[in-house]
Amino acid sequence: MDDFPRIFQQSLQKPLLLDVPLRAHSTFRIGGRARYFFEAEALPELAAAIGLCRRRAQPYYLIGGGSNLLFDDAGFQGLIIKNNCRGVALREGEEVEVLSGNRLSGVVEFAAAKGLEGMEFLAGIPGTLGGAVFGNAGAYGQAIGDLLQEAVLLDRQGEEIKVGADFFQFGYRRSSLRVSHVVLLRAVFGLRRGEEAGIRARMAEYLAERRANHPPTGTACAGCYFKNPVLPDGRKVSAGKMLDESGAKAVKWGDAAVSAKHGNFIVNEGQARAEDVLRLAEELKKRVRERCGYELEEEVIFLPAIASMP
Ligand code: EPU
Repeated sequence: MDDFPRIFQQSLQKPLLLDVPLRAHSTFRIGGRARYFFEAEALPELAAAIGLCRRRAQPYYLIGGGSNLLFDDAGFQGLIIKNNCRGVALREGEEVEVLSGNRLSGVVEFAAAKGLEGMEFLAGIPGTLGGAVFGNAGAYGQAIGDLLQEAVLLDRQGEEIKVGADFFQFGYRRSSLRVSHVVLLRAVFGLRRGEEAGIRARMAEYLAERRANHPPTGTACAGCYFKNPVLPDGRKVSAGKMLDESGAKAVKWGDAAVSAKHGNFIVNEGQARAEDVLRLAEELKKRVRERCGYELEEEVIFLPAIASMP
């Protein structure tokens, strides 16, 4: 008998949701149903849900804004925990402390309103703070990891640990969170005192740049689908440009297509399935391999319906 929902209710004093359509939690608007779903509104709840899953060997997956993620058409055979733990506060000096489930846009707005500069390049990036740190989100030559000073994590034993920036081993779209199976609870960012008007003007410039080069806000997609290949000297080759030159914009699979605006955005034109996106991605990789000699690597994470325990 399936007694996990009962045990969850007893342990957290909150119910699990059952058979929740994941497309509603995906900016791609793709995905079947999650067997169990729970939205954590506070850090103790988040820790308790993860701890219970670990003790019961219950497969789970933690999501933020669902903006860099492709859910399976078969959904997820386990518990999807959505991190909705929000909070942003000013610390002494020019530091801002943020809970991991906070929207990144909310953090950027908070910093601007307080006249703190350094985060403008993050304007327009969707998702949560946790997701942004996990994937070291960035744009225009900067990344969120450059600003992080310290953080509190939940380790595999369910203990809170305080770490410095070096723990994360930030690289291009990379952090140790991807492999270490610890969970970011909150983080502190070091900013600089500035003028609100100037900060807002720079945010507007970055947003205009995005509007000009990316598909319109609200397009069903997950941002850039592939990482830019990095050369041995650290320079990056634009995946979008190579895809464009490889004729990617003319390729479709079902309702999965490449944005006419940018070759590295796979978009859901209506009823695309994960399978369509995966097949299209394979075709795109093949084209770039044959034409340019690069093996593209996915930036978007595909979550299979049956996943091993993290
Ligand atoms: N280009 C084309 N055709 C295209 C797309 C791009 O010719 O279809 C050309 C552009 O004209 C430009 C060059 O390729 O000369 C680079 O394009 P872009 O400035 O859009 O940068 P990118 O390397 O494609 C990266 C990040 C974006 C980030 C922008 C801005 C990756 C995979 N992509 O894109 O991040 O917003 O720089 O800094 O790192 C994301 O990670 O989801 C993402 C969108």
